[in-house]
Formats: sequence, structure tokens, C-alpha cells
Amino acid sequence: MNVLGIMSGTSIDSVDFALCSVAEKRMELREVWSADFPKALRANLHAAARNDLKSWEFCQLHHDLGRFYASHAARSKGHAQLVGLHGQTVFHNPSHKNPATFQLGEPAYLVEKLRVPVVNNFRVADLAAGGQGAPLATIFHQFVFAERGKHVCVHNLGGISNVTSLDWTRGAKPGVLAFDTGPANMLIDFAARHFSNGKRQFDFNGKWAAGGNFSEDLLRRWLRHPYFLKQPPKSTGRELFGEPFFKKAIQQMHGLSRFDVAATFTEFTARSIALNYRKHLPARLDKIILTGGGALNPSLVRAIQSNLSAPILTSDELGWPVQSIEPAAFALLAHLRVNERPGNLPRTTGANRAVLCGQISKP
Ligand SMILES: Nc1ncnc2c1ncn2[C@@H]1O[C@H](COP(=O)(O)OP(=O)(O)O)[C@@H](O)[C@H]1O
Ligand SMILES: [Mg+2]
Repeated sequence: MNVLGIMSGTSIDSVDFALCSVAEKRMELREVWSADFPKALRANLHAAARNDLKSWEFCQLHHDLGRFYASHAARSKGHAQLVGLHGQTVFHNPSHKNPATFQLGEPAYLVEKLRVPVVNNFRVADLAAGGQGAPLATIFHQFVFAERGKHVCVHNLGGISNVTSLDWTRGAKPGVLAFDTGPANMLIDFAARHFSNGKRQFDFNGKWAAGGNFSEDLLRRWLRHPYFLKQPPKSTGRELFGEPFFKKAIQQMHGLSRFDVAATFTEFTARSIALNYRKHLPARLDKIILTGGGALNPSLVRAIQSNLSAPILTSDELGWPVQSIEPAAFALLAHLRVNERPGNLPRTTGANRAVLCGQISKP
């Protein structure tokens, strides 16, 4: 079956599309493309993530975004028979005593445009079953990247950083752990926007970070954040490492150049990843497969490599472009949903049981 996965992550940079052919035992990538958010839409999404929209504006955005997804989904040359739409997370607060998560983007426009079933709202069933509603790409990582006899980590560097550890050094099935380690690009992106007055969305090719030096004092202070030592299952978003964190950090860095600031945030991401690996993952590690936009930042990749000894490669080298992984995961999840099979791995999300993930809209 040809399934189109659509993902826009916490970076609010663009929407990633992956058309995949999905079978019982294998999955192949047919097409991958991205669509940058137009300026106004991006500004509204940032405003929503900052809690700065009125309820009418928020409803309007839900529809505008749905139409945007639909118009770019129609660009595919292959024929999609099913769509998995993640939507744009504007609020994710799973650890609260009254947990909530919300993904924006009305699916009706996709159904109307493509005239095929669309699965969306993937996270709520897991949340209702006591889970974090995240991470959900885990089942795809396992499906495609697990290797018998090895411990492989699939590490996604989006706005937030998350790892899937697939330890198949013994047993009939891999032992799976998956959780968010903290920030990936989010703070670096904030710095890029801050120093360029919004003209730059990120530190292109890690050039700023490469030209600066990190502050050891600040790193030591920030790495004491309780999130890093917290036992998995755990997930986070802008709530912990978004604007409030950035505002405080940028004050603490008063007087530092944009190069030193970028270098410090880049090293912070790398060290917080390494700290999570040491505290929460089995010691033997055969390889790390990097995915997500951060894998295109050589300074970030170098910093991660210098803090971890396992060999590092990118998913591109295995035939999956770094921006295809997340949308492909939601293509697989949609396929599981229409076949009435669970999409969450309860041990990794913390849910009480395996549940059907996603809600289906039919033409
Ligand atoms: N050439 C590049 N150089 C540096 N950083 C990059 C590059 N390309 C992408 N990125 C980073 O990747 C981010 C987008 O990654 P993505 O995987 O789409 O994250 P998300 O899932 O949060 O949307 C950008 O915001 C940017 O920080
Ligand atoms: Mg993105």
C-alpha cells in the first residue's frame, strides 16, 4: 500500500512529506519532499506555541494549516492510498496530573483533496491510556533499523532531541527504550533568530558555532537541569527548553558573541545527549544513526561525536534522507491503525496497554 506520511515538528521550519510503500514485513521510501511554511503561517504557529493567539485566531489557524498540508500533499507524483497526518504540536504536557497534548491541522482538507482515508490525532489514545503520547516513531525505527546482534540507537535531532535504543545483543526481539533527551536545535534556532532579528531561522551548516567557543561554566550549570537525570519514559517540548529557557540563558550569556552563544548551545545539546546515554542506556553501543535536520549541522554532529565513542552515521547513508524518517514513521502508524494494530510500545511511552493510535477520517 502507498502511504503518505506528513510531519511538521517542533522547529516550525517546514512540513516534511514521505510517500512510502508499506508491506507486512518491509517498507520502502518512494518520494520525499518538504514545504517551507509561508511567513504569515509560520508567525502564527510560533504565536500559538507561545500561547499568544486568541481562540478564534487559533481555530482559523487549524483550518489554514489543514489547507496548507492538503495543497502540498497533492504535489506527489505517486498515488497515495492512505495518509498519516501528525499535525503541528502546539501544546504537549504529558507529565502533568491532568495531562494534555494537542496537534493542530484540520484533516478534512486532505480527505477532500486526495479522496483517501486520513489518520490523524495519533497521540491522544496513548495519553488516555496513561502514556506520554510520545515518542511514537519508535515502532518505525524498530521496523527499519534494528539489527540482530547489535545495539543500535536511532537519534532524531529536531527541535527536541529523541533517541530510540534498539538493543538486540540477545533474545528473539530487540529491547527497546525511547525518550526525549532534551533540546536538539531549538535553542540554537532561537539564538539564530535573536542575533539576526528573525532573518535567519537556524545556524546554517553550524557556521556560527564553528567560529565560537563554548562557556564551560554555563554548560555545567545547565546540565544540572533535573530533566536529564529523570528516568524514562519521559518526553518534553517547548515547555522546558523553549522560549523561557532561552530568555534566561541569553541573559546569562550577556556580552558573548553570536558565535560563542551558538557554540555553547550546540555543545549543550551534545553533552545533554551524552549524559542521557550514560544514565539511561546499556553501555555497549554499536552505532548511532542520526536523523532530523540537526544531522545536517556539521558542528552539532561533531560535538555529539566528541562526547560519545560509538560510530555515528546519518540515516541518508542507509537510504532514508534525514527529513524522511519522521513522516515515514507516521505513514507506518497510519497503516497500523487501518489494520487495527496498536502503534504505541507501552514500555516506551509509559502507557498501561498497547492501543490503536490515530483517528480515521474517510472520504
Ligand atoms: N543545513 C543546516 N544547517 C544547520 N542546521 C540545520 C540545517 N538544516 C536543518 N537544520 C536544523 O534542523 C531543524 C529542522 O529539523 P527537523 O528535523 O525538521 O525538526 P522538527 O522535527 O523539529 O521540525 C532546523 O530548525 C535547523 O535547526
Ligand atoms: Mg521540521
